[in-house]
Amino acid sequence: MTSKVSLICATPEHREQVVRQFASLPGAEITVHVGGARTLLSVLQKDQPDVLLLDLPEPDDTDFELIDAATQRVTGVLVLMVSNDASMATLKRAMRAGVRDVLSGPLSAETLMVALDYLRDARANTSRFGETMGEVHAFIPAKGGCGATFLATNLGYVLAKSSRRVLLIDLNLYFGDAATYLTDRKAPANVVDLARQARRLDSALLGASVLKVRENLSVVVAPELPYQLEEVTADSVAALIALARTEYDFVLLDVGRAMDPATVKALDVADRITLVVEQSLPALKNARRMVQVFDGLGYGREKVRVVLNSFAKSNLIRPEDVEKATGLPVARQIPSSDAAVRTAINQGDPLPRLTPKDPVAKALVQWAKELSPVTVKSERSWFATWAGGL
Ligand SMILES: Nc1ncnc2c1ncn2[C@@H]1O[C@H](COP(=O)(O)OP(=O)(O)OP(=O)(O)O)[C@@H](O)[C@H]1O
Ligand SMILES: [Mg+2]
Repeated sequence: MTSKVSLICATPEHREQVVRQFASLPGAEITVHVGGARTLLSVLQKDQPDVLLLDLPEPDDTDFELIDAATQRVTGVLVLMVSNDASMATLKRAMRAGVRDVLSGPLSAETLMVALDYLRDARANTSRFGETMGEVHAFIPAKGGCGATFLATNLGYVLAKSSRRVLLIDLNLYFGDAATYLTDRKAPANVVDLARQARRLDSALLGASVLKVRENLSVVVAPELPYQLEEVTADSVAALIALARTEYDFVLLDVGRAMDPATVKALDVADRITLVVEQSLPALKNARRMVQVFDGLGYGREKVRVVLNSFAKSNLIRPEDVEKATGLPVARQIPSSDAAVRTAINQGDPLPRLTPKDPVAKALVQWAKELSPVTVKSERSWFATWAGGL
């Protein structure tokens, strides 16, 4: 498949060099422009490329505002920045503006190869769903407190109860508390420990490091104190998830909203992203922004599922409003059940175990059933099979 690549060079001289260098590159159709962030929108609209490289040796605030505006208008293109400033601050700023990554300049044949690799990865990630290996589902709240951790942990519990091997990885590196939603026991190791050992990570080490909550359900916990987080790199997270896929039927990622490289990598390799939304204006606004970020990251629309949590019919914000804001269908509604959810979280015990008849428990059972249909013949109904003994 030929990939359409657009380049925006900083100066006409640079354009000449680039044209000479990239005269022919198999598998890529390259269009070269001169300009800066100001030309991004028109190039995106005119070329409709698969990937765009923007050469900005020294980006400033105006550049980021222009990039942000352009990536909001034209979604679904992988935008990469090439810059002399590859600092973490610039990377974060760029990602917030919808850029997938910042590659160190100057723009060269090597940079272009990296860009094509990104494109290949993005395409592979959106078409991988359905392989025989474990499925990776990332849960991310549109806004803090929407319920991503509650849903990931409690859905994990229901899946495990039905004999699916489940691993939950807590990637909220600063204040991760997913394990406490399920148990008060302490883990032998945490995600930073595993990231530091990424090179010698194997199934034995993973098995010895996870917190076993109950049969079929384990958690890789977040660190108690945010220490040595720099070891949690995109590569080490990718290695951990890749191994987990081979050991578990479901790998559930509790992902924070900080779009650092490790988080973006986790979202990249996930088969599905569950964007957890609630009926509030800030959540809707953030959800819209996040869907734009996902578009910018090159994720297909199939990959992102919007789940409306704490749903109450009486709320003036309706599911249609969520759909309008995100441009995606609401894949699932989880009802509101204040007392039952609060009790479960405060006791560190899954809700479907404490109150199996609660509407939230039933919604989780239905969700698990759809993710992994029961194939074993049973005299009991599917609901009893799923809910029985919870
Ligand atoms: N279905 C629900 N019904 C009622 N309350 C809910 C429901 N789901 C979650 N909550 C409430 O929302 C609160 C936040 O949930 P949770 O910790 O899962 O959020 P989060 O999205 O992971 O946020 P954070 O950004 O803090 O990680 C919980 O304390 C719980 O009381
Ligand atoms: Mg959380």
